[in-house]
Amino acid sequence: MSAVAEQTRLETRMLADRINALEESSTLAMTKMARELASKGHRVISLSVGEPDFKTPEHICEAAKKAIDDGFHGYSPVAGYPDLRKAIADKLARDNNIDWKPENIVVSTGAKHSLANVIQVLVNPGDEVVIFAPYWVSYSEMVKLAEGKSVIVDGAFENDFKVTAAQLEAAITPKTKIVMYASPNNPTGAVYSETELREIAAVLEKHEGVYVLADEIYEYINFTDEGHFSIGSIPALKERVITVNGVAKGYAMTGWRIGFIAAAKWIAEGVEKLQGQVTSGTNSIAQKAATAAFNGPMEPSIEMAKAYHRRRDLVVGLLKDIEGFKVNVPQGAFYAFPDVSYYFGKSDGETTIKDSDDFCNWLLNNSYVSTVAGSGFGAPNCIRISTAASDESLIEAVQRIKDAVATLK
Ligand SMILES: Cc1ncc(COP(=O)(O)O)c(C=O)c1O
Repeated sequence: MSAVAEQTRLETRMLADRINALEESSTLAMTKMARELASKGHRVISLSVGEPDFKTPEHICEAAKKAIDDGFHGYSPVAGYPDLRKAIADKLARDNNIDWKPENIVVSTGAKHSLANVIQVLVNPGDEVVIFAPYWVSYSEMVKLAEGKSVIVDGAFENDFKVTAAQLEAAITPKTKIVMYASPNNPTGAVYSETELREIAAVLEKHEGVYVLADEIYEYINFTDEGHFSIGSIPALKERVITVNGVAKGYAMTGWRIGFIAAAKWIAEGVEKLQGQVTSGTNSIAQKAATAAFNGPMEPSIEMAKAYHRRRDLVVGLLKDIEGFKVNVPQGAFYAFPDVSYYFGKSDGETTIKDSDDFCNWLLNNSYVSTVAGSGFGAPNCIRISTAASDESLIEAVQRIKDAVATLK
């Protein structure tokens, strides 16, 4: 073994088991590889990152500047400033028909942090967490960190990647603690309708010790006529639903890192206790910006959603034209999630594509378009393509993909 390999082996042994057991985030890994190729001078089109390509609206930026001038420089309360928690409670009443008080809200460093907090607070070793697949890459790793067991339930392509109430019923056991899902969904763009969520709720009503972690971070990027429905608005489940949301996607504020939970007081207090020992209150300036976002005009978010809708149509139309690609029509968020398994086993003469990881790596190295393999999302036949890019980039990227796969035989 070389000296470098030996050093790496020793270092890995020194890391805690829980870290060695964790997967690296596949979306961040792909983005890193794309950056490396770009730094070598290649014209990479990066469609791997889950990030709006819009700027944060002006009135929100102004609120942040004012917060600095007004001297919000100190530690903030662990659960968030009272005016932000009130703004979130008002938003939940206005948009989601959810009636919680500010004391039921805890603000954290992004919705990712909110989700991880809840899992740490509710999951004991061995508890089962039912995850609707395809799912966002971090869910199963968060469960692993809490020593829980992920129970993955697959939404069928034919059902727009959505899990049915009957499938959920079959997955629940006496050990089930949480059911978690995102709607609109990353990576599929699937949106659960009110009818579907009421059917799911009817199953959950029968299982008293089961909690629901409803990730609504893409709420404002929804292309359906019906619009968004929150399972937390169903009175019979209110005490057991933890609604998670934030500012990242709908207000183009990924870097500001503000997310929140809305939940029964004992859960909110558990999250506050954890956060009090680990991170304290989140960034003071970003909280003031988020307050302006939740209290302010929705037009910028509506305009962004319109642009994502238009690009969805553009990209889905172009992808459907590629031989072998099976494409669903996303109803929200900003991703396309084609099934590319037609190409598994095919080769360009040098490389044989075995799975979606191979497919994405090969695509990046041959067409300089970065996408993310579906394997990390629990859907190994698919790849995720972000549509949060300009029309020109999207058109060129899909053309490059089309040209590249035409060489696979
Ligand atoms: C489904 C889903 N939930 C949560 C998050 C995290 O959001 P935030 O940036 O607020 O941490 C993301 C971000 O990609 C996501 O796709």
